[in-house]
Amino acid sequence: MSLKNLGSLWITPALGKSMKKKILDLIKKKNKKKIVSLTAYSKNIASIIDNYCDVILVGDSLGSVLYNYKSTREVSLEMMIEHSKSVRKGVKNSLMVVDMPHNTYRNSREALINAKKIMLKTKCDAVKLEGGKKIYQIVKILIKNKIPVMGHLGLLPQSDKTFKFKGKIKSEKDRILSDAKLLENVGVFSIVLECVETSLAKLVTKNVSVPTIGIGASKYCDGQILVFDDLIGLNPTNFRFVKKFANIRKVISKAVLNYSKDVRENKFPNKKNSY
Ligand code: KIV
Repeated sequence: MSLKNLGSLWITPALGKSMKKKILDLIKKKNKKKIVSLTAYSKNIASIIDNYCDVILVGDSLGSVLYNYKSTREVSLEMMIEHSKSVRKGVKNSLMVVDMPHNTYRNSREALINAKKIMLKTKCDAVKLEGGKKIYQIVKILIKNKIPVMGHLGLLPQSDKTFKFKGKIKSEKDRILSDAKLLENVGVFSIVLECVETSLAKLVTKNVSVPTIGIGASKYCDGQILVFDDLIGLNPTNFRFVKKFANIRKVISKAVLNYSKDVRENKFPNKKNSY
């Protein structure tokens, strides 16, 4: 699908003016400017990162990051909606995308009901669904119903049994490229590529007209996304694809140590903190 066609797909009265503009602006960044994206699960963080991001994703990664679930498969629609309502309060500029959790888009009817619920209750700009050939008919229905969709290919945490990077084998490479083209043809406005081999990221990015946003997918994508807790070093685990841009655990430890000292030494609260 050409960028021109894609543009007209989104020029519909049903989409809010600012939502349309944000999506078109994002698409126009392809081959021109890198797209910056992060996850957020709550208002305060969203309000900080909103100043620097093009896209803020309420990812179902919140299941493992916040709730210590074994997989994102345990995340419910209600959890996504509540966290997204909080995030919405902090997002003024970025495009806000919400993950449709596992088992909420098993068929077109279910997907449409749930996507509409997410859009209505959270006032987000778009939803993200994992998969290619298996779900592209569902994606098509959502888009026909004026629900902007971001695709997600490569490692699919909602359905993959093992968490290995993708694209080493030719058949896998071919499948992911053809999935990307299918998604492009039904009108997704961008595609997340998770944990894919560098040459595959390059290939997909070159062969689709919509921006690719990578996580563990090399520098050749049109943009990058990271889980916020990983970026600030709140998550103690080290992943190859993550660069910790801060050591927030150290900052928090120091603050809490100082607080505990002040309480124990009866220095907090003082007169200034009292009524
Ligand atoms: O759930 C999530 O945070 C995601 C990103 C890793 C892209 O899908």
